[in-house]
Amino acid sequence: MLVISLLVGLAFNIVVCQSKIYGSVADLPGLTYDFIVVGGGTAGSVVASRLSENPAWSVLILEAGVTNEGVVLSEAPVLVNQMLSHPIWSWNYSTTPQPGLNGRAVSYQRAHILGGCSAHNGMFYTRGSADDFDRYAELTGDSGWSWDSIFPYFLKNERWTAPADHHDTRGQYNPRVHSSTGKTGVSLPGYRWPVGSRVMQTTKELSDDFPFNLDYNSGNPLGVGWLQYTIGGGERSSAATSYLTSDVQQRPNLHILLTARVFSLLSNKSNRLSFNGVQFSHNGSPELFTVSAKKEIVLSAGTIGTPHVLMHSGVGNKADLEGLGIPVLLDLPSLGQNVSDHAAATTTWSVNSTDTQDELGQNMTFFNEAFAEWNSTKTGPFTTLGITHVGWARLKEGDEIFKQFEDPAAGPRTPHIELKFTSGTFGGSRVGHYFSINVAVASPLSRGSIKLNSSNPLDPPLIDAGLLQSDFDVFVIQEAIKMAQKFVTAPVWKGYILEQITPPTNITTDSALRDFIRSTAGTSSHLAGSAGMSARNAGYGVVDPDLLLKGAVGVRIVDASVLPRIPSAHTQAATYVIAERGSDLIKQAWS
Ligand SMILES: Cc1cc2nc3c(=O)[nH]c(=O)nc-3n(C[C@H](O)[C@H](O)[C@H](O)COP(=O)(O)OP(=O)(O)OC[C@H]3O[C@@H](n4cnc5c(N)ncnc54)[C@H](O)[C@@H]3O)c2cc1C
Ligand SMILES: *[C@@H]1O[C@H](CO)[C@@H](O)[C@H](O)[C@H]1NC(C)=O
Ligand SMILES: *[C@@H]1O[C@H](CO)[C@@H](O)[C@H](O)[C@H]1NC(C)=O
Ligand SMILES: *[C@@H]1O[C@H](CO)[C@@H](O)[C@H](O)[C@H]1NC(C)=O
Ligand SMILES: *[C@@H]1O[C@H](CO)[C@@H](O)[C@H](O)[C@H]1NC(C)=O
Ligand SMILES: *[C@@H]1O[C@H](CO)[C@@H](O)[C@H](O)[C@H]1NC(C)=O
Ligand SMILES: *[C@@H]1O[C@H](CO)[C@@H](O)[C@H](O)[C@H]1NC(C)=O
Ligand SMILES: *[C@@H]1O[C@H](CO)[C@@H](O)[C@H](O)[C@H]1NC(C)=O
Ligand SMILES: *[C@@H]1O[C@H](CO)[C@@H](O)[C@H](O)[C@H]1NC(C)=O
Repeated sequence: MLVISLLVGLAFNIVVCQSKIYGSVADLPGLTYDFIVVGGGTAGSVVASRLSENPAWSVLILEAGVTNEGVVLSEAPVLVNQMLSHPIWSWNYSTTPQPGLNGRAVSYQRAHILGGCSAHNGMFYTRGSADDFDRYAELTGDSGWSWDSIFPYFLKNERWTAPADHHDTRGQYNPRVHSSTGKTGVSLPGYRWPVGSRVMQTTKELSDDFPFNLDYNSGNPLGVGWLQYTIGGGERSSAATSYLTSDVQQRPNLHILLTARVFSLLSNKSNRLSFNGVQFSHNGSPELFTVSAKKEIVLSAGTIGTPHVLMHSGVGNKADLEGLGIPVLLDLPSLGQNVSDHAAATTTWSVNSTDTQDELGQNMTFFNEAFAEWNSTKTGPFTTLGITHVGWARLKEGDEIFKQFEDPAAGPRTPHIELKFTSGTFGGSRVGHYFSINVAVASPLSRGSIKLNSSNPLDPPLIDAGLLQSDFDVFVIQEAIKMAQKFVTAPVWKGYILEQITPPTNITTDSALRDFIRSTAGTSSHLAGSAGMSARNAGYGVVDPDLLLKGAVGVRIVDASVLPRIPSAHTQAATYVIAERGSDLIKQAWS
């Protein structure tokens, strides 16, 4: 592809590491810390930053990936697709063959870089519904996870910023539900692809089906609104760029070791299972090192990495571990179970215009001009992913489907369906010019699992994302595609939409549509729930409402794996608030 070849040189334009990132284990100031954070990803970067605010506490981050410094593919919003599946910046996993996808195994990306998935994700900033969080409070018996209690943490995380083009944003969001004093930059699209005004006009012409929602991040997401991105000043804002800034990295009590691959947690006390050591390798060499934590080990290795590390430490389903010859320290059958993702498919139309994002992939002059503009002023087409709006919708109340399936949505303000309105092809490239609506199951019933495939910590685990495992989820996509098709029947699309490209127009029955869905749908890369929170007295679950590993002392899990249900939203905002509240829980426990 055009873009890849252009960027090979640039991608390695890595600047000299900042001083507190260590190059070798021998350079570390010691092998004992108050807190060891396993995984400097989205949540881990927040936790390490917050804990090291206390100068009396020493904090070590062990991150398997590389530095984010100077990685242009991460910084320039539009270039992210070139980073995925990359051997340096991605774990490049694949799922197991998914029965719900007609047996296909699909590529499953997790970032391998400081900042974790926030450094290579789609930058959607979506908090979910108030119901989602109120359900977390109910499932955990801890009102601290309710929407009202969590709301201040959204504000603590968010730094609302002017869009890159500094356009007038009145009427495009509700300032009352945002904060300009947090850490992670959030902004409206900084480049106005013309299709955005047609999407807005549709919310007027078809207002019953597609009402305008001024701000889907208010707790009530239903309707169509302007997309909010984790972008500040035209550049991606990741957990690394927003929480591990150079002043934070200069703190004498914070230490960061990159390319440090954690194999397992160690326990050496006999009375009660207590973890206080972490075993890891560095730079791919076979030698293993051990560091100890005086206070806590914070596991932030993500929905795949966290259960992977714990299972190799002897925690998990007893029979599964014994089957692999791993000595069992703690039988915890919920670990790795109950994971879910937002399965997604795309409707695409060719359009009567060349003014779409597709132009970047097929007009070298345009691409070079846009790159130069972004490079010098951080403005222009490079500052978005081409998605202008996002819509959240529910199935019809009383739909027949609810006689067959329990409604998985957390409540009446919670969507079943997500619609992403894109000026161009969604997530790929195709010759020509398009409008597309990617649709996703916002509240899935499907569940999958993470399991070990071998006793070697370097082998990838078995990732069953459970995509479209439930027929309910296929029905949701079917209805969502029909909704997308209805969207473009508004008068404003006349003369602009030329031809439906996907699904192919010879698909005229629901059963053919479902087959199209199963043979083309994929992941949103939102896997959550592999180490779910549950109430203290629950007969299942992995962590308690304070995020402490059940059945052991010394370990807290702080990342997207603790979400007991996937939110009806992209998962980074939920991950950020888990990390912010998690940091406060740790501070309270040790102050
Ligand atoms: C391609 C893609 C697009 C996405 N788009 C969006 C979006 O637009 N909006 C949104 O809200 N969400 C999006 N998400 C999801 C969101 O980014 C994640 O849910 C969230 O960032 C997860 O955060 P985390 O802290 O749980 O894990 P991560 O951010 O994955 O952090 C885990 C870290 O642990 C490290 N690690 C793992 N194992 C080990 C080990 N053994 N030793 C040492 N380190 C280890 C990893 O390298 C990583 O840095 C997307 C995700 C992907 C992959
Ligand atoms: C990523 O994984 C896919 C599927 O397993 C494989 O085809 C591809 O070669 C991998 N990419 C790299 C860079 O290893
Ligand atoms: C095990 O305990 C000893 C002393 O009790 C301590 O010095 C050592 O660091 C511990 N090992 C780990 C891995 O925590
Ligand atoms: C999965 O979660 C549900 C609650 O949502 C719970 O009832 C069930 O026991 C969990 N399963 C496992 C294996 O933990
Ligand atoms: C390519 O982009 C340039 C710069 O925007 C523009 O002037 C030119 O007309 C485009 N070429 C084609 C074939 O559309
Ligand atoms: C970006 O700007 C730098 C100077 O600031 C320059 O060296 C580089 O060539 C520019 N790259 C592009 C793609 O414009
Ligand atoms: C699991 O292990 C088997 C046997 O070693 C191997 O053939 C297979 O590729 C592994 N699966 C994954 C997903 O790594
Ligand atoms: C394309 O748009 C032009 C006006 O911009 C219009 O004249 C023409 O009829 C349109 N083509 C189609 C096929 O609708
Ligand atoms: C639609 O047409 C394609 C070929 O263009 C064919 O492969 C497919 O089977 C057809 N689908 C249906 C439902 O007729």
